[in-house]
Amino acid sequence: MDCGGETSLVVNGKSVVLDKNNSATLAEFLRDRLRLRGTKVACDEAACGACTVLIDGRAAFACHTLVAQLGGSSIETIEGLAHEGRLHPLQEAFVIQDATQCGFCTPGMIMTLKAALDGGARTRDQLMQAISGNICRCGAYLHILAAAESLL
Ligand code: FES
Ligand code: FES
Repeated sequence: MDCGGETSLVVNGKSVVLDKNNSATLAEFLRDRLRLRGTKVACDEAACGACTVLIDGRAAFACHTLVAQLGGSSIETIEGLAHEGRLHPLQEAFVIQDATQCGFCTPGMIMTLKAALDGGARTRDQLMQAISGNICRCGAYLHILAAAESLL
């Protein structure tokens, strides 16, 4: 919603107001202003997927998105997945399948896979395609895929 020099967006269900001239990326805004540090920044140039969040349900690189352009949008980050003390099924699956090593890629992987599963992914190939832009430097891909596949 736009109002004068301000605009607003919704982050994990809460409305947030910001200046339309804010020059921060969404990743900077989430981490520095909202203190939502679950969204990671590695390459900072749209090449690794670590910063993936959902914008209106679609996976997007927060490092490459200007927050001021997102007025009226709904953003979901890794912090928004657990409810009432219960992990999201994807988070539980990552634990069960031992899909996290250092954990740096994990939030981006989970958000990417959530968008894919919510969007109708039904095969392992579709899941692999979904995470083709997400790099895991620990090489935990097989465990990550197993976690996502367990929810097909
Ligand atoms: S930190 Fe955004 S894609 Fe790598
Ligand atoms: S678990 Fe370390 S980068 Fe993926």
